[in-house]
Amino acid sequence: MKINILEDYQELSQAAATILIDRVKKNPKSTLGLATGGTPKGTYQQLITDHHQNGTSYQHVTTFNLDEYLGLAGENPNSYRYFMNAQLFHHIDIKIENTLIPNGVTMNTVEECQRYEQLLEAKGGVDLQLLGIGSNGHIGFNEPGTSFESRTHVVDLASTTIKANARFFPSIEEVPKQAITMGIGTIMKSKEILLLVSGEQKKAAVQRLLSGEVNEEFPASILNQHPNVTILMDKAAAGQGD
Ligand code: F6R
Repeated sequence: MKINILEDYQELSQAAATILIDRVKKNPKSTLGLATGGTPKGTYQQLITDHHQNGTSYQHVTTFNLDEYLGLAGENPNSYRYFMNAQLFHHIDIKIENTLIPNGVTMNTVEECQRYEQLLEAKGGVDLQLLGIGSNGHIGFNEPGTSFESRTHVVDLASTTIKANARFFPSIEEVPKQAITMGIGTIMKSKEILLLVSGEQKKAAVQRLLSGEVNEEFPASILNQHPNVTILMDKAAAGQGD
């Protein structure tokens, strides 16, 4: 794993955007795997600024998001579809039909998971997957104990994840209890992975990841076995904060 420690969140976001822009310029038909949550927001902001200033085009790019809450339609401001449209897609020239996110209001979750995997396969897989990490080591919504072989599936969210994500909802009761997520096996098929880690609250997770232990009780640990992972972390996450 390549590790790059940046001064702060601003620099981390800039470094992540630089990598994404480089890959899109080298391959305008790139398939990008994207994440939601607080961490990538600054990166998306930088991509938007670059798109307006330098004209980097996403016309031929396809994106697959990691996950979506079950029960939330795209019009719901707390859905990940809504987040992605607001934070990125509506501000760049990507074709909205090329932005794939699991359907949170599907009538048939089994079929929806299969459909998502098939779409990914038809595209030849993800070229560059952007990831965040939960304090409990989750990647996507793959909570501790998820099989490393898992593909896109329905998950019950851990109570720690529900608590962590309650900050985006009017009250904790409104946080959905389930989600559809790419599996760990799905994520591991990406050709390249870019993991962003910011803030002191992620320090313990980073330490555990870098310990080299590979254990299903700490989902992100599988990244130790991926051939092309870059971790960008700020000083606070690296334990070098003031
Ligand atoms: C988001 C996702 C999650 C987050 C993780 C970290 O699509 O799949 O795994 O990356 O929960 O979230 P933040 O960035 O809010 O700390």
